[in-house]
Amino acid sequence: MHHFDLKAGSLHAEGVSLESVAEAVGTPVYVYSSATLRRHYGLLRDAANAWPDALGEALIAYAVKANSNLSVLATLARLGCGADTVSEGEIRRALAAGIPPERIIVSGVGKTDAELAFAIDSGVRQINIESAVELDRLIAVAAARSATPAIAIRVNPRIGAGGHAKITTGGDTDKFGVPVAEALDLYARAAASPHVTPVGLACHIGSQITDLAPLEAAFRVLRDMTLSLRGQGLTVSRLDLGGGLGVPYVGGQSDPPSPAAYMAMAARVLDGLGVEAAFEPGRLLAANAGILLSRVIQINQRTDGRRFLVLDAAMNDLMRPALYDAWHEVVPVRPRPGDARPHDIVGPVCETGDTFARDRPLPPLEAGDLVAFMGAGAYGAVMASEYNSRPLVPEVLVDDSRWAVVRERPSYEQMLDREPKADWLQ
Ligand code: LLP
Repeated sequence: MHHFDLKAGSLHAEGVSLESVAEAVGTPVYVYSSATLRRHYGLLRDAANAWPDALGEALIAYAVKANSNLSVLATLARLGCGADTVSEGEIRRALAAGIPPERIIVSGVGKTDAELAFAIDSGVRQINIESAVELDRLIAVAAARSATPAIAIRVNPRIGAGGHAKITTGGDTDKFGVPVAEALDLYARAAASPHVTPVGLACHIGSQITDLAPLEAAFRVLRDMTLSLRGQGLTVSRLDLGGGLGVPYVGGQSDPPSPAAYMAMAARVLDGLGVEAAFEPGRLLAANAGILLSRVIQINQRTDGRRFLVLDAAMNDLMRPALYDAWHEVVPVRPRPGDARPHDIVGPVCETGDTFARDRPLPPLEAGDLVAFMGAGAYGAVMASEYNSRPLVPEVLVDDSRWAVVRERPSYEQMLDREPKADWLQ
């Protein structure tokens, strides 16, 4: 569900015409809907609140990596949303957007000593520890600062799931977390240290998961581990259940489970355990809250029959199709009447990887027309680069009939000025 709809024959983000945004800001540009962000957060919050015993106090810690624009974060912060962060940069963004430190979780497989120190000094809610060596380093960093940060141990439950091999994180050969037995050991070791306070367990098994079964299996592993640690007399008061619930990208494909079904499943598994739960949704909150708006440069109709729709957006602006063969719906902003024909949708970047879709049926389009890539609010702008020296794609946030540029497109001068010439080359 999103708030991008045709009004008077032209696609709008809430009350704002995308044609007017393109006119003012140029293309390509990401456009986000505040109403969609709020709706998705509300669905999760309501679903958690519906099970007061097990989940009523659950923290929804938005995975900042999905879309870390400060205005997107500030929109969520105002709703009471927390943050799941994986770098000092993300912690800084969350704090700058007004997310209080007690709602910030710090995850990540390779946090530096400096990042651990920054997390401790910021007073974050909890640091998720992913390996024995990281626990040792955190203990040393915490001891040097006379701090006792709250930690969770990230378990690798050997249950991988997700929309693509590159975004599966819970499989036994994936780099994330430690196996169950090792996690139990680490927990006991942490409990014996005066420099950290183990509060719970964490797991995240993958992204774009469209079936509840692997998630439920992973949650059950956490439940069993909680009981086992308590059996040893240790305190386990929090479970971080990660993110990963998928979104519908492809019209007609089987829809992923609803947030309500997901939360009901979690409540069932956690029932009677008396833990505070945390969820780390990224895609679920942001994906359908954003589109990438692009203009048709030209249509190359080759004599061999192939028809290339050449856009001014490219793989450097939206990496997902090149990286994961991801499918994004592409729709004309002002649809013209006529029959759909197959198009190869490509950008101007000089490699064949810069192909968004092959043989995609599209209604008639002409040079200068605008198109929108749907479902591009998560893992879109955050993964953009300046490959082929294309200035970093800007971002716009809409709220009802208001809109604002929330990340500017750098000028060519700004792009070049960032690279001082080596003094011997002046
Ligand atoms: N928590 C942790 C520890 C994570 O590593 C991730 C995502 C999330 C939460 C949020 O997962 P989500 O709810 O968004 O599925 N760039 C890829 C997705 C990478 C996800 C990485 N980790 C893509 O474009 O599909």
